[in-house]
Amino acid sequence: MTAVGYSRHGDPFVLEMNSKYPRPVPRDDQVLLEVYATSVNPVDYKFRRHWMPNFLLPKPKIPGADVAGVVVEVGSNVTKFRKGDRCAALLPLLGSQWGSSAEFVAVRESHMTLIPDSISFVKAAALPLVALTAVQSFDHLTMERTKGKKILIQAGAGGVGTFAIQYAKNVLEMDVATTASPSNFKLVTALGADRVIDYHTEDFSELITDYDVVLDPMSWTYEHLTLNQGKNVLKNNGGHYLNILSSELVNGKEKTVGFTTLLNIVKHSIMNVFSPGSLAKYSLICVRPDGDGLARVFDLVDQGKISSVIDPQIFDLEELSDAHMYLERHYATGKVVVRVKQTQT
Ligand SMILES: NC(=O)c1ccc[n+]([C@@H]2O[C@H](COP(=O)([O-])OP(=O)(O)OC[C@H]3O[C@@H](n4cnc5c(N)ncnc54)[C@H](OP(=O)(O)O)[C@@H]3O)[C@@H](O)[C@H]2O)c1
Repeated sequence: MTAVGYSRHGDPFVLEMNSKYPRPVPRDDQVLLEVYATSVNPVDYKFRRHWMPNFLLPKPKIPGADVAGVVVEVGSNVTKFRKGDRCAALLPLLGSQWGSSAEFVAVRESHMTLIPDSISFVKAAALPLVALTAVQSFDHLTMERTKGKKILIQAGAGGVGTFAIQYAKNVLEMDVATTASPSNFKLVTALGADRVIDYHTEDFSELITDYDVVLDPMSWTYEHLTLNQGKNVLKNNGGHYLNILSSELVNGKEKTVGFTTLLNIVKHSIMNVFSPGSLAKYSLICVRPDGDGLARVFDLVDQGKISSVIDPQIFDLEELSDAHMYLERHYATGKVVVRVKQTQT
């Protein structure tokens, strides 16, 4: 089959298209999907550009965690899906060689769901990783009800942010503040943000006080400001910080979870046991595949409560290097989708 992969880590040009990849053979609990669309997430370019041992990231690696396609083969233990079904999934991020930047991918039944007819392959491929990240983050909330509570969602125009704003507003009925560039104010407001902060000229930690929740896709730079005791961004009593483990290249080095994060996790956990209410709660989230969770997301999209936010620039599979570069250089708004097979649906 044709796929785009890399055998060594590096810049986007290590990605090469090759028509000689073996077609995956599904195990008993898997189906083989013919891929119609995939999307690029920051994790794809981060794994590509940083060395990782083969047991975590076997090579050659075909990147791509989001997939939307059609079932062409079914393993003997699979009960929920049949040949011809339109399905989508989030694939496991680590340990797997075969991603979705390929004509075919083998997917575990428990990671998949059917795509409702109202959702195109392109729209479906934009959802799994970012939607499950947001939903699994919100699952950590322990407050009795979310209605009317205040949430700050950082990076509102990004993949995670565009989904999370809609979910927080339309499902959790929260009062939503977000950070964005002025060019994206209209978008994030249309998605449901009640308050928008221009992160280029304003410091959110001076403007936001006593919030109930912060969902932070910019934790590599905003964690210390958010949890700074002098700032009161979050309520100590009942506030909750949701860190989704972001990172960024700073002077050629990936700045990510450091000692501060570990200290904060320990400090906030201990204080919440021995002195509840004295510090905000702290959760660190790593997204995981979940077919049932994705089915609930697609229901919300089917009902019109949430929509897929896709950058107008859609790439073809042979342009995967360009798609990586486009997201990596922060040119995108919403999700960067890669079309693998041309279709009207
Ligand atoms: N733990 C997990 O399981 C998990 C899951 C998903 C994502 N993540 C991580 O979360 C991060 C975000 O993911 P994503 O998919 O949303 O990325 P993305 O789509 O690339 O997000 C880009 C957005 O970030 C915004 N942005 C850039 N600098 C900012 C700043 N200083 N303040 C506020 N916003 C800023 C930009 O907004 P403007 O365009 O408006 O300037 C842009 O729209 C990544 O580091 C990713 O690796 C982790």
